[in-house]
Parts: sequence; C-alpha cells; structure tokens
Amino acid sequence: MKQKISVADIREKKGKGRIVVVTSYDSTMTRIIDAADIDVILVGDSAGNVMAGRDNTLGITMDEMIYHTQCVTRTKPGALVIGDMPFLSYQTSVEDAVRNAGRFLKEADAQAVKLEGGIRVIEQVKAIVRADIPVMGHLGLTPQSVHAFGGFKVQARGEQAARLLKENALALQDAGVFSIVLECVPATVAKDVTDSLDIPTIGIGAGPHCDGQVLVLQDLLGMSKTFKPKFVKQYANLFDVIKEALDAYATEVREGAYPAQEHCFKD
Ligand code: KIV
Repeated sequence: MKQKISVADIREKKGKGRIVVVTSYDSTMTRIIDAADIDVILVGDSAGNVMAGRDNTLGITMDEMIYHTQCVTRTKPGALVIGDMPFLSYQTSVEDAVRNAGRFLKEADAQAVKLEGGIRVIEQVKAIVRADIPVMGHLGLTPQSVHAFGGFKVQARGEQAARLLKENALALQDAGVFSIVLECVPATVAKDVTDSLDIPTIGIGAGPHCDGQVLVLQDLLGMSKTFKPKFVKQYANLFDVIKEALDAYATEVREGAYPAQEHCFKD
C-alpha cells in the first residue's frame, strides 16, 4: 500500500520538486490514478461539466460534490485528496463556508478543500483554516466568476491586474492556505507570484514556472473531440480507443461472435 500524502508533504515540496495534480470524480478512474505516480487528486467542481454535462461549474451542488468526493476517497488513494467547494457554498457567509468545508472532511474523507477568490473571501479562508481544515486557494480565471468576467478569459494581463493577483496571492498565504492554483494567467505573472510565495503554486494555463501543474483528467486523456483549450496537452486519445472498443463490441454482438464459448456458463 502506498503511503498517504499529506498537506504538509505538499507544502514541503516548495522549491524541491514539481507537484503533480489531476482531477478525479469517481472510483474507477481513481484506482488508475492510484497506480500512477500522482501527488494530489482534486475532486474539482469541473465535475459539473465533465460528469454532469453542464456548460459551466455554477450548477453543481454541495451534495453532488460530497458524492463525487466519497467516490474518490472510498478507493483509498495514496494521493492527497482535495474537495472543491462549489458556487455559493462559501461566498454567502463565514458560517456557511466553515460548515460546508467541514462536510468534505466529515462526510467525504477529504484532507483539504479548495475555494476560488482571494481578498474578497479572506474571512471565509481564515475561519476555515481556524477550524483546522486545510485550504487551497484559486486565483486567475476562477470559473465560478465566468459571468462576472464575461467569459472564460485569460486574467492578470497588464501591470495593474498582475499586481492585484499578487496582492491576492499574498493575502491568501497570510490567511493560511497551503497552496494556490493559478489558472489562465500569463507565464511571467505566474512566475512572479510563485517566486513571491513560500507556499506552492499549482498552474493550469499558467506556464512552466509554477511549483506544480493540474489538469482535468478527461482533458489530458483526450476524452473529448470538441473541448481542447490551448493549455491542455493530450497524453492519450481515449475517445478513439473507447469508441473503437465499443464499435468492436457492437459488431460482435450483431454478428453473434460475442459471447463466445469461453464467456458461457456450463450446466
Ligand atoms: O474544478 C476544477 O477541476 C479545477 C481545476 C481545473 C483547477 O478547479
């Protein structure tokens, strides 16, 4: 059995080695992830898109996130498991934030939570950390703000926006987060933020200078023909692999080649 990775392990990796993060939402994929050398599993609210077929992450509920996190943690992966706090589970009040963050640990066995935003949710972050729940921050293109941003756009372009991003990152660090996701920001900005912090940054569309990288599992496995953002590298083409297997199954069923003798029970 693999040794369980802790928040402290991730925190200590700053400046020592790159941190590898993928998303997962179910037990089948988590078992495969566990066979690979992955440091962190993020049960992202991207489950709303990837698993539930929604256009954005706004609709996913706390109960759905708890369900997906349970599906992941039941397989007991060695990677650190982080539950992603969904839209309106923490923005509404400090009390809501602590109660909902706590549900990820209490009901779903996560080791930490992630939430989006910096200074505007700093009281929530401080209160969750005070409750001994480790928090990962998320800055840059925070998908729960898609309508406020007017679309999925690269953030922190220009001197002032870059300065603001850094201020928010430093505020999160002061509030006690153990790591920060930087999403869709220029590589130079991500480098400056990474160099300014004592905690690791995890990039997605934020260039090579972050302390780690995160990708949505289905994106890196090439499971979609239609969704491929610029920052995604497809390490496999599972869409075609799975389709070919399904076509072969359909052909064999229709031709009567499956099931064969070896798939049948004897009297
Ligand atoms: O929900 C998610 O999957 C995320 C990562 C892509 C950072 O927030």
